[in-house]
Amino acid sequence: MKALEVNNVSFSYDGKHDAVNQISFDVLKGKHVSIIGHNGSGKSTLAKLILGLLNLNHGEIKVFDEVLSEKSVQKIRQDVGIVFQNPDNQFIGATLEDDLAFGLENRQVPREEMKQIIIEFARKVGMEDFLNSEPANLSGGQKQRAAIAGVLAMKPKLIIFDEATSMLDPSGKKEVKKILLEMKKEIKDLTLLTITHDIEEASLSDEIIVIHQGQIVLKGTPIEVFQHEDKLKEIDLDLPFLIKLKKALAKRDFDVSDANNLEEVAKKICQ
Ligand SMILES: Nc1ncnc2c1ncn2[C@@H]1O[C@H](COP(=O)(O)OP(=O)(O)O)[C@@H](O)[C@H]1O
Ligand SMILES: [Mg+2]
Repeated sequence: MKALEVNNVSFSYDGKHDAVNQISFDVLKGKHVSIIGHNGSGKSTLAKLILGLLNLNHGEIKVFDEVLSEKSVQKIRQDVGIVFQNPDNQFIGATLEDDLAFGLENRQVPREEMKQIIIEFARKVGMEDFLNSEPANLSGGQKQRAAIAGVLAMKPKLIIFDEATSMLDPSGKKEVKKILLEMKKEIKDLTLLTITHDIEEASLSDEIIVIHQGQIVLKGTPIEVFQHEDKLKEIDLDLPFLIKLKKALAKRDFDVSDANNLEEVAKKICQ
């Protein structure tokens, strides 16, 4: 089953230049797809189109077989969660608990169940000790983890991460990536669309879609996409460090092709 179908979608802010230009792709249910591309390539515009926050000029979007329209947008938004780039723009509550409660109230979850759900989802992202904290006092990584708890509590079937780690420091990035990997393992049939300009992050997904100036320029599994080194360089994207290292070592007759991380590479070289 398809979680998302984007068919020949175009959108322009100014009526002259297309920020999203005839984009088509599908995301199968339960898969993790990454969209990568430089700043200004149209990634956030695409996310906003999928959520119905902007209206398409051309094409069609289907979310779980439902055609996105003015009529269906509210229903579709119940199935789709989004974590945005800026951790500071994700909160409305005075405390983390209030914030999570607010989302659940909107969903008309009975008060008695609310407390339990809040604790359950705060625990999932390791934030249960911060429920009384003011969002402003949390680190960037903690804020994004809390935002993820808020999204998960809504039980979405598709979650979009729009550069959710790009404003975080390295430890914050690590925290959020860890949660993402746990979610993938734990929640059956959850579909993930991660928008990023971090190619290392994209290499964790089942499929990568590379966009440049509003158009798809490459699409495939990470291994397929990383074979197009020249094309990636042309649009200023670089290969992940591990792939570059493997290539450099292969030239020196070290075969580390089956190493999955830097530690395994080091072990093989030291053998
Ligand atoms: N609100 C807006 N009004 C006008 N132009 C916009 C707006 N938001 C984005 N753009 C333009 O649309 C293009 C795509 O932007 P965006 O989707 O934000 O890219 P990305 O998320 O890949 O960085 C860029 O040229 C950007 O300047
Ligand atoms: Mg963006």
